[in-house]
Amino acid sequence: MVNVKIAIIGATGLVGRKIVSILNERKFPISSLHLLSRSKKEVTIDGKLYKTEISEDFDFNKVDLVFGASSKDSVRKLLGPISDSDAIFIDKSELLRMDKDIPLVVPEVNPHKINSETKVICSPNCVAIAISVILNNLRKKTKIERMFASINESVSGAGTKALNALLNETKESLMSSVIQPQFFEKEIAFNILPQVGEALDDGKSEEEFKITSETHKIMESKFPVNITVVRVPVMVGHSIALHVMCDLEVEDAVKCLKSSDLFSVADEKGKYFTPRQSANTDKILISRVRRANGILSMWVCYDNLRKGAALNAVQIAELLDFKKK
Ligand SMILES: NC(=O)c1ccc[n+]([C@@H]2O[C@H](COP(=O)([O-])OP(=O)(O)OC[C@H]3O[C@@H](n4cnc5c(N)ncnc54)[C@H](OP(=O)(O)O)[C@@H]3O)[C@@H](O)[C@H]2O)c1
Repeated sequence: MVNVKIAIIGATGLVGRKIVSILNERKFPISSLHLLSRSKKEVTIDGKLYKTEISEDFDFNKVDLVFGASSKDSVRKLLGPISDSDAIFIDKSELLRMDKDIPLVVPEVNPHKINSETKVICSPNCVAIAISVILNNLRKKTKIERMFASINESVSGAGTKALNALLNETKESLMSSVIQPQFFEKEIAFNILPQVGEALDDGKSEEEFKITSETHKIMESKFPVNITVVRVPVMVGHSIALHVMCDLEVEDAVKCLKSSDLFSVADEKGKYFTPRQSANTDKILISRVRRANGILSMWVCYDNLRKGAALNAVQIAELLDFKKK
């Protein structure tokens, strides 16, 4: 691959910073790196100081590849200048994910959705990525009849301000019995919030709707999905109690999951993983695989900022064929 000129929108945020780290870790060939934010800032990533440039003033013709790691509203404003340039755009925001003409890609599941004409690629919701890689592996051996899940999203899934709120509320809780919520509608410290995103008319939450529709789009299969998503006071690491109606026995499911480098599977009696263990690892950690009443169940933990976000975006970039300009 030729050396690539890269810009990252939202480079001061949790996902943007992780994209920089992962590009470096994986030795992605970079000829220039432009970190973009709303105002000029200095940001230290893995001990190195970077200066940011203002995204609205940036000339996207200067780069081959743009990563979007900011909110959907900020991406909407920058879409015109990005589209007018020759740069390929990999977006982490939800803005274009369900556009039928834009590929929503998990490299282990549907890399064929990218071709030489592709200019915009979306990286999916952090939970849709994990669920689709697991189900995609299982469906090589069995038909997925339906899926149920109870999903625990860590606070870093909602960005820097949410993470700061968890830390501040936790400190305040230890000093006082009354605390004010600092980011979410209700306090997150020592609590669980049973709705992520707005409530929709059919009783689902926005996040439950997004996970369902994105998983269906990635897998190109509309099997029934029943999920509940809650926000838990964990800093990094989402966890899922995943239940899949299928005819796979435990031994076959474990063998199938172990055959992929993406998973670390604990199948010894009494061994399990926690979300905290998943922080800063690329693997999806799977434990407590069991079967009852026609349903295969497992406990899944993974780093939402890595495979759930930045790593998936960098893996998409690794699929692209950059030509020398
Ligand atoms: N966190 C996760 O686990 C996760 C997983 C999957 C997808 N995502 C998606 O990834 C995106 C980033 O999430 P995050 O968790 O990193 O949020 P974050 O920590 O809040 O970071 C977002 C960053 O975007 C920057 N920003 C806002 N407007 C901008 C603009 N006009 N130009 C350039 N930068 C701008 C902000 O930086 P300044 O204030 O310094 O400009 C902020 O640091 C979101 O769309 C989110 O939905 C996140």
